[in-house]
Amino acid sequence: MTNSIRFSIGNIPVGEGLVVAPMDGITDSAFRCMLRRQGAALCYTEFINARDVLHDSVFFTRKTTRVRDEEHPIGFQIYDNDPLNIVEAGKKLVHYRPDFFDINIGCSVARVANRGAGAGLLLDPAKIAEIFDRMTDAFTIPITAKIRLGWNAASQNYLEISQLIQEHGGAMLAVHARTKEQGFEGKANWAAIREIKESLHIPVIGNGNVNTVAEVQSMQQLTGCDAVMIGRAALPNPWLFSLRDRDAISNEEVFAFLQELLQLMLEDYPEDAALILFRKFVNHILKPLKMDRDQKIHLFSHTQPPELLHTIQNLLDLRQNSPS
Ligand SMILES: Cc1cc2nc3c(=O)[nH]c(=O)nc-3n(C[C@H](O)[C@H](O)[C@H](O)COP(=O)(O)O)c2cc1C
Repeated sequence: MTNSIRFSIGNIPVGEGLVVAPMDGITDSAFRCMLRRQGAALCYTEFINARDVLHDSVFFTRKTTRVRDEEHPIGFQIYDNDPLNIVEAGKKLVHYRPDFFDINIGCSVARVANRGAGAGLLLDPAKIAEIFDRMTDAFTIPITAKIRLGWNAASQNYLEISQLIQEHGGAMLAVHARTKEQGFEGKANWAAIREIKESLHIPVIGNGNVNTVAEVQSMQQLTGCDAVMIGRAALPNPWLFSLRDRDAISNEEVFAFLQELLQLMLEDYPEDAALILFRKFVNHILKPLKMDRDQKIHLFSHTQPPELLHTIQNLLDLRQNSPS
């Protein structure tokens, strides 16, 4: 992995490497940092509800006040169905030093999409144009979007939407190559990413169905995208960001990663909360150990970080020493 510039978002240079997909409840500052340390080139905050920002909700505080220097460049992702709310939220968020604002035009969760936010915006291109007009007027930092291909198979308006975003000042586009109706199931349509890439001059990031190093390379080749974005595969294999598959990772490295991640989480959350939030990472990363129910109960019964780490170490050592 080199540090050479791969593309720019407006005037923000982005180096070689994969892009960390925004994932609510997963890509917090601690995990983002760990993925940057593996070689990720770019990341986003978890999506931020503009209304939480306007009402100073605790969710807004949690997602925005914890951004470490090493996470830059970072985009703050905002969602709402009201362009004015998005601009007003941006005016508060800009004080937390985002490198760019990203508009969520892809969230498929009913409580978001059904009120016309997230993927719901795909049904209202004029509103997307208004959001980009207002945001590019209000801010000097780049404004980008993450979209899906359309609401459903019958309304795949991705070419219209991506052109419109570019025309109204969008500086980069990330494409999750599924429709809203597909949710997270089914095959992502990489050919659509290629169509979008060929029709735009701003950078295009491809996303969906990438779980292995071979798939990173395939997506790159088949779509010509400027960078590949990884979502769910980051959980079981954060080493994908250093272009390594999970089976190439030693137990020592697995332990070092978890130890470092927990350390960062302990800096960010009260100890009990950190230990609970840490569980999902341990569960995913230690999946190859095929822990049984009793092992998991024992593992997650610990209330002190050193004991938890000691048990993880034992689990990894035991596996190393057991005949295979
Ligand atoms: C738990 C979870 C939370 C997500 N949260 C967000 C979000 O906050 N903003 C967003 O644009 N996409 C969100 N996504 C979608 C991912 O960014 C990504 O587009 C999707 O998972 C497809 O990529 P993948 O196949 O690599 O996982 C989320 C996905 C998951 C699984």
